[in-house]
Amino acid sequence: MGLRIVVGGDNAGFNYKEALKQDLEKDERVEEVTDVGVVGTDDGTYYPNVAIAAAEKVAAGEADRALLICGTGLGVAISANKVKGVRAVTAHDIYSVQRSVLSNNAQVLCMGERVVGLELARTLVKEWLGLEFDPTSSSGPKVDAICAYEGI
Ligand code: RB5
Repeated sequence: MGLRIVVGGDNAGFNYKEALKQDLEKDERVEEVTDVGVVGTDDGTYYPNVAIAAAEKVAAGEADRALLICGTGLGVAISANKVKGVRAVTAHDIYSVQRSVLSNNAQVLCMGERVVGLELARTLVKEWLGLEFDPTSSSGPKVDAICAYEGI
């Protein structure tokens, strides 16, 4: 079974969200892409509303991962991390993207349209899709400690 991915972002991240969504839809590792908005650069929905809607789908088990884009990738990560059980990171380099899954079992990747070039963002997302957390690795108990704090 392929990955079920939620994409979302605010108007400052709309163009990248659309471009990355197209890549995801073409990728054979992806089974389903769900877009939670925004619907255009003139859609003024605040980034927390979109990020929390996406994170709630991950927390509910309706999606495996979320990809969130705003101007910086910061606000969407802060917002998504408010949802219990969700680990969201902002990452614009390959090492951080790799470690976000391999070390932190982060289900949510956030990027900033005003920060990173589109081709690098596309490359990072391609890499991200191939990563899988190993709960038996030395990182397992560390992520468990985060979950324990959350009471899950
Ligand atoms: C624009 O509203 C900008 O603040 C937003 O896209 C994001 O960068 C916030 O973290």
